Amino acid sequence: MCGIIGYIGSKPATPFLMEGLRRMEYRGYDSAGIAILDGATLVTRRAAGKIAKLEASLAAAPVAGHVGIGHTRWATHGPPTERNAHPHLSADDTVAVVHNGIIENANALRTALQDTGYVFRSDTDTEVVAHLVQELFDGSLEEAVIMALRKIEGTYGLAVVSSRDPGKIVVARKGSPLLIGIGEHEHFVASDASAILAHTRQVVYLDDGDVAVLEADGYRVLDIDALPLTRKVDKIDWELGAIERGGFAHFMLKEIFEQPQTVENTMRGRLIVEDGTSKLGGINLTHDQLMAIDNIIITACGTSWHSALIGEMMIEELCRIPVEVEYASEFRYRNPIVTDRTLCIVISQSGETADTLAAMREAKRRGARTLGLVNVVGSTIAREDDGGIYLHAGPEIGVASTKAFTSQVVALALFTLKLARKRGLSVTRGMEFAQALAALPAQIQQVLDRAEQVEHIAAEFKRAPNFLYLGRGVNFPVALEGALKLKEISYIHAEGYPAAEMKHGPIALIDEMMPVVFVAPHDAVFDKVVSNVQEVKARKGNIIAITSRDEPALQGLVDYEFRIPETVDLLTPILASVPLQLLAYYIAVQRGANVDQPRNLAKSVTVE
Ligand code: AGP
Ligand code: GLU
Repeated sequence: MCGIIGYIGSKPATPFLMEGLRRMEYRGYDSAGIAILDGATLVTRRAAGKIAKLEASLAAAPVAGHVGIGHTRWATHGPPTERNAHPHLSADDTVAVVHNGIIENANALRTALQDTGYVFRSDTDTEVVAHLVQELFDGSLEEAVIMALRKIEGTYGLAVVSSRDPGKIVVARKGSPLLIGIGEHEHFVASDASAILAHTRQVVYLDDGDVAVLEADGYRVLDIDALPLTRKVDKIDWELGAIERGGFAHFMLKEIFEQPQTVENTMRGRLIVEDGTSKLGGINLTHDQLMAIDNIIITACGTSWHSALIGEMMIEELCRIPVEVEYASEFRYRNPIVTDRTLCIVISQSGETADTLAAMREAKRRGARTLGLVNVVGSTIAREDDGGIYLHAGPEIGVASTKAFTSQVVALALFTLKLARKRGLSVTRGMEFAQALAALPAQIQQVLDRAEQVEHIAAEFKRAPNFLYLGRGVNFPVALEGALKLKEISYIHAEGYPAAEMKHGPIALIDEMMPVVFVAPHDAVFDKVVSNVQEVKARKGNIIAITSRDEPALQGLVDYEFRIPETVDLLTPILASVPLQLLAYYIAVQRGANVDQPRNLAKSVTVE
């Protein structure tokens, strides 16, 4: 779930481990720890809470050694205490394990191990792995790990070291990402490329089922029968600067402000304005396959699910193909209607979300073709889909997704345009849409140039205990996304609702204490939204409106207004979401919340 880092080489391991853990802090975690092989003994240091606490304990009692593993934990089994922090040691202290994921049969294994005399020192599922490896060890760490894996059910990214076989780190992956970093006379393992980017760009992404043995001077990838496998070496092509704050107070703010460039990057080389279409190299769908699509299912979670809702409206409007949007966590356990003429679009920033990955596999199993809209290059969804569109938004570090969202909507727009032009959209309408897309980066910049206005609005409402976000049509998902952003980072209760649906219930909540954010650009449903604004005003609600022109109809109704530039209706969500990202950000900052690492959240949710 969270972060794994490991180092083996000729240099002291601790600084590499601590730096790696720091680089993965953004993923969200609740405790951290390292284990170092110091000669013939394994030494661990662990701390509940922030990495700074672990650093303090290391400063008080440093650990030396050239082989080590480290972990940031996002608790699934047992509270976030020091005794539950990883690494976990075997009963005889010869094996140390860090683990991301969930061992599903941990209870049965624990009971069996306890019956043979093992005493457990934590509440975690992970600890069984340490004892199992001790139990099965017969001279070779990789053999013991492989035998242990045969007994384990569930998901894991694992890194294991042992004082009985000290010159190696054994790692394994199933359902939780892991990569090997290749250095000069040193090797790394990490669950996230950002943890090792400062030291090497040469990486090997492991596949599910892979086991690998890392030594200072080499590495081997094995299958579960210990037979050697060949895995290709990839090169990370982004810069360290992309994962640093670059003068901004928070990653989230930096990422909000990057959107003119990230949206541009999503379109680069793909949008062909003069033909009113797009060129998408990686979708792996022939003309005939595109023509044969009967229906589209889009599946995703969280913010990515919100972009899916916008995609649904774009595709249905311009391509006239029925689209269904499904929460990945629901889709995977339903009995959905999927045929070999179904296209399943899978949207994920991280490309590792367990529910989304499982939904994609289920759609594939049922015969659909899959198309992944993914940001993280080399991630599992990107490697398993039939075709894909990389977002090219660069690493998103803030836990609250911002730039990935706008790039997802743009990627959906590019795909819509291509499909629509094949399925009868005129070149004139195609060009109109393409021109509007091309104008977006500069328009987003215009919004950002007035961020201060949003900051002032935030100051007015920072103490509100509740918020309502309302929008209609293509801006209803924007209302949902605005509310999610606020909840995630400010912990203010917020709900997104279709503006007209409000009168069927939520209207009961409205009084002079309730701020209501209307997403009301001048689109086809604007006049209808005005009636909804009236309904709120009549009940003394406080109205903040996102508008796109001077609207006499709103005069006297709106307490605070923020203007976005005009674009075609279907693309307004991209411009309207930016001020809502800023509103959530400024409110959270003014309330003193930890914007980049909100409580209880993890950057990528690789458990069910
Ligand atoms: C967004 O701000 C969230 N933290 C979360 O809802 C996220 O969008 C969701 O978990 C899906 O992640 P993914 O795009 O990496 O699959
Ligand atoms: N299930 C393990 C635990 O609760 C690992 C959690 C994680 O992925 O960080 O300790």
